[in-house]
Amino acid sequence: MPPKPTKYAHLSIDGEADAIDLPIYQGSEGTPVIDVAKLGANGYFTYDPGFVSTASCDSDITYIDGDQGILLHRGYPIEELAEGSNYLELCYLLLNGELPNQAQNDEFVRIIKKHTMVHEQLAFFFRGFRRDAHPMAIMCGVVGALSAFYHDSLDIENPEHRRITAHRLIAKIPTIAAMCYKYSQGQPFIYPRNDLDYAANFLHMMFATPCENYEVSPTLARAMDRIFLLHADHEQNASTSTVRLAGSTGANPFACIAAGIAALWGPAHGGANEAVLTMLRDIGDEKHIGEFVKKFKDKDSGVRLMGFGHRVYKNYDPRAKVMQQTCKEVLEELGVENDPLLRLAQKLEKIALEDDYFVQRKLYPNVDFYSGIILKAIGIPVEMFTVIFATGRTPGWISQWNEMISQSYKIGRPRQLYQGHSQRRYVPMDKR
Ligand code: ACO
Repeated sequence: MPPKPTKYAHLSIDGEADAIDLPIYQGSEGTPVIDVAKLGANGYFTYDPGFVSTASCDSDITYIDGDQGILLHRGYPIEELAEGSNYLELCYLLLNGELPNQAQNDEFVRIIKKHTMVHEQLAFFFRGFRRDAHPMAIMCGVVGALSAFYHDSLDIENPEHRRITAHRLIAKIPTIAAMCYKYSQGQPFIYPRNDLDYAANFLHMMFATPCENYEVSPTLARAMDRIFLLHADHEQNASTSTVRLAGSTGANPFACIAAGIAALWGPAHGGANEAVLTMLRDIGDEKHIGEFVKKFKDKDSGVRLMGFGHRVYKNYDPRAKVMQQTCKEVLEELGVENDPLLRLAQKLEKIALEDDYFVQRKLYPNVDFYSGIILKAIGIPVEMFTVIFATGRTPGWISQWNEMISQSYKIGRPRQLYQGHSQRRYVPMDKR
């Protein structure tokens, strides 16, 4: 429910005396919103392609102030969460609204671990895909297929069903993500190990084989945990809005999350860290950095420095600061001297951070710059990057979906500005 209006906007069409009064609401933080819901009854719709000025819902979960570089989950700054907590604790916070105490945390971790395995039958779905299928294509299909397995918890009006579904999704998504990778490698699926924590278990399922154990490095597990944590929610972005829109029809949550995964797949959304690696490959060698930096600064070249700049964060990306530190730790542990691409990334970062063009435009590295490098250093192939993003974003999607279902909500049904033909008569084939 929106708060009580603080003021009213008065919309007068062509100076007519009878203005339409539109309530203005002020949230606990951020830009006030004008409620235009009653405009339709007055014979007008609003027009805002891309929703650049439109709030689609009210929410208590995440707040972003791009100018100040602030990202809060349930009021807590992302830097403090990254420093003091871990991914599963953040999942609990997003889902329940408050940080867990020790007993609540232990119980939550126990429940998530209980759900890490997927139904054995689900493994057969994978065999229907080509081995060279993009892992996002597989993930989309397999997550959607989960709705066929959990009929026992699909009553969306039942809060207990919603809770179980949220737990199942958070627990099973990394298992499915690792299965997507294993399938593409032609390797057998690796079962989860519940003695490991969430991120370490993911690395185990990715890199162990039946004939060889994978010793999970605590530094890499911590880096993986942070990557999940930093992607957990980002308020009403395209994929989250997709989940909400699909959910507004009453569709089951597994189908809604599959829709979110599909939206995330686009290069304008989840593909940026993949683009960082592609750019590094294009540069190829440290000796080409100079000519590429020239191109990045030349608008006519159409080439941008991928992983720098952000549509929302105009001063800095608070998540990037955390990732930069983690990146340093990972590269120190693994040693970058053997990897020319990682060496190249470090050189490029240094040059861009000192270059006037980037400094003046406040173009800092965003979270994708560092997450791309970290994932590459850990040995995760580029095609898996968006799958990892989807894995981390799942608690955000399911929390936002749950919030919507627990409020009173309407089916999402935008209007349009129609510019096609007015009504005309059908012309028979022989008269055209
Ligand atoms: N490389 C070179 N120049 C850049 C870059 C860049 N990465 N980003 C912005 N600029 C320049 C623009 O050309 C513009 O220059 P001008 O003032 O001389 O005209 C100036 O910086 C300001 O740019 P904006 O137009 O304000 O930036 P915009 O909001 O349109 O773009 C975006 C933001 C799309 C993220 C952009 O910075 C970019 O393309 N970055 C690289 C791609 C990337 O890393 N995307 C991931 C973002 S994070 C995420 O989505 C999860």
